[in-house]
Amino acid sequence: GARAQGSAGSFAFEEITAKVTEGHEVAPGYDADILLRWGDPLFPDSPPFDPMNQSAAAQARQFGYNNDFVGFVPHPDAPEDADRGVLVVNHEYTNEELMFPGLGRQDEDAVGFAGMTKDLIDVEMAAHGGTVVEIARSPDGKWSAVIDSPLNRRITAKTPIAISGPAAGHDKLKTSDDPTGREVLGTINNCAGGITPWNTWLMAEENFNGYFWSADDQSQGEGLEDDPAKVAFERYGIPGRWYAWGQHYDRFDVAKEPNEPNRFGWMVEVDPANPNAAPVKRTALGRFKHEGAHSVLNPDGRVVVFMGDDQRFDYVYRFVSDAAWDPSSPDRDILDKGTLSVARFEANGTVHWMPLTFGTGPLTPENDFADQGDVMVQTRRAADFLEATPMDRPEDVEPNPERGTVYVMLTNNTRRKPGEENAANPRPENVFGHIIEITAPDMDFAADTMTWEILVKCGDPKIAEVGATFSTATTEDGWFGMPDNCAVDPDGRLWISTDGNSGVDTGRSDGLWSLETEGDMRATSKHFFRCPAGAELCGPYFTPDGETLFLAIQHPGDGGEDWPEFGRVSTFDDPSTRWPDFQPGMPPRPAVMTVTKRDGGRIA
Ligand code: FEO
Ligand code: CA
Ligand code: CA
Ligand code: CA
Repeated sequence: GARAQGSAGSFAFEEITAKVTEGHEVAPGYDADILLRWGDPLFPDSPPFDPMNQSAAAQARQFGYNNDFVGFVPHPDAPEDADRGVLVVNHEYTNEELMFPGLGRQDEDAVGFAGMTKDLIDVEMAAHGGTVVEIARSPDGKWSAVIDSPLNRRITAKTPIAISGPAAGHDKLKTSDDPTGREVLGTINNCAGGITPWNTWLMAEENFNGYFWSADDQSQGEGLEDDPAKVAFERYGIPGRWYAWGQHYDRFDVAKEPNEPNRFGWMVEVDPANPNAAPVKRTALGRFKHEGAHSVLNPDGRVVVFMGDDQRFDYVYRFVSDAAWDPSSPDRDILDKGTLSVARFEANGTVHWMPLTFGTGPLTPENDFADQGDVMVQTRRAADFLEATPMDRPEDVEPNPERGTVYVMLTNNTRRKPGEENAANPRPENVFGHIIEITAPDMDFAADTMTWEILVKCGDPKIAEVGATFSTATTEDGWFGMPDNCAVDPDGRLWISTDGNSGVDTGRSDGLWSLETEGDMRATSKHFFRCPAGAELCGPYFTPDGETLFLAIQHPGDGGEDWPEFGRVSTFDDPSTRWPDFQPGMPPRPAVMTVTKRDGGRIA
């Protein structure tokens, strides 16, 4: 299904066909290989994956579910060796109906799927979090996991995690299990993330509200109409009641532990070189439905982290450290001190970064902010007061350090009504999303004012009412909708992965597209990789040599109908959508893949 490549673009690969298939496909001349699937062993004592007899103990020693962010750092003992490294992977959430055999459908009022027991919830909790695993490249160019590496590690919804920064020890973070407010069990809904300049891993806690429950759906509303605590809960959608964890664990029942939700929604920093160090929730980076956390060293040495809050009408954020990063005397807690700002996009093409600093402007006790820790706990409410620009679901926000630009993925927002548009979010009922390009003045990513423009409005350019703005050089296979994650490759080119194309009948699965940002070909995209049916694509992440691209295939087989052993797997033509194994009795399995060029060299 390959087509001839376009003429003058910077990407040489032959485009693939956009369609829906049970398998995956990558551009001709490239290999896409499975590296790790849900349930694969990570340690010498990991039990083999047995989907019909799952246990929390086994899952805690195996690769987790729904791989989202993928990062790669050099091996700490051999940083110059391009054939060794450490892979870090977020496990965002669990699809109970795809994981466990024999569950019933969800009742309208029920939480989770019928048949979820405490034992199965414990499996779910062990399938969340993250994986650290050493990988090695063999002479044939193929990567594999090093199962006996001392660096390998699982982080789950029960792993002890330290809390640092301005909200550490805050009264709003104290619970009956942790009267200090300085240690929390677990990290959840780890969506995208980032790798810092000092090779640590930032895991973003996104839809944490869904894990909180109460017996009474309205429990936060009764008699609390004027209580700021109620507003704070509502602003984050707590309790979300997506999972039944709160029926078995008091800390997820907000009627019993009302402060536990304040301990989630943060950025978590993990040092892959030190498997014994506790991960740390860095509260100076704010509390919201964190998507990515791509960082850059500013020319003056300060660390700048760009982040999205993935909710309809929520905001784009930036953190700037107080100190400059000094490799000769590294401050491992540099992310604890700095300024979090939120973006206001003006119609004149400027964007202002507005600091969320206690005691300035409206962020005072008069408006129920007690101190800087409180401003961080209530980041969304604080940003509301500053009149930040409500966006169409900010997902990845990634700088291009060579060009002084920042790309903002705005995935969609079908709830923006006509009349609610703003300059940076100009389409009502925005089904397909768009991408904004921000330009920092003189490469200064810490500047308070920058400029912005829309790089592309997504969707099918043939359908006039969609209003897509891909270049005319973009083919029928080349356009995409719902940009979610992105990567800037070692040559400074932009790649976009998508989430949701199969949900709106575009005739195409999610996948990876290249997107030109420079010159006459700007806003030209080309289709490089297609996901198996039902999956969204996460990652993407390039090795420093540009020769390997990691892709995360998340929730393959999602959105289907009932079939015998497992829940609702396939609505596709052939009900055997059990990627990547296609074996009876084996559910579909989220997996991380490596893409390499068959004759070697950079992915291009
Ligand atoms: Fe977990 Fe915003 O995607
Ligand atoms: Ca996602
Ligand atoms: Ca995402
Ligand atoms: Ca998404």
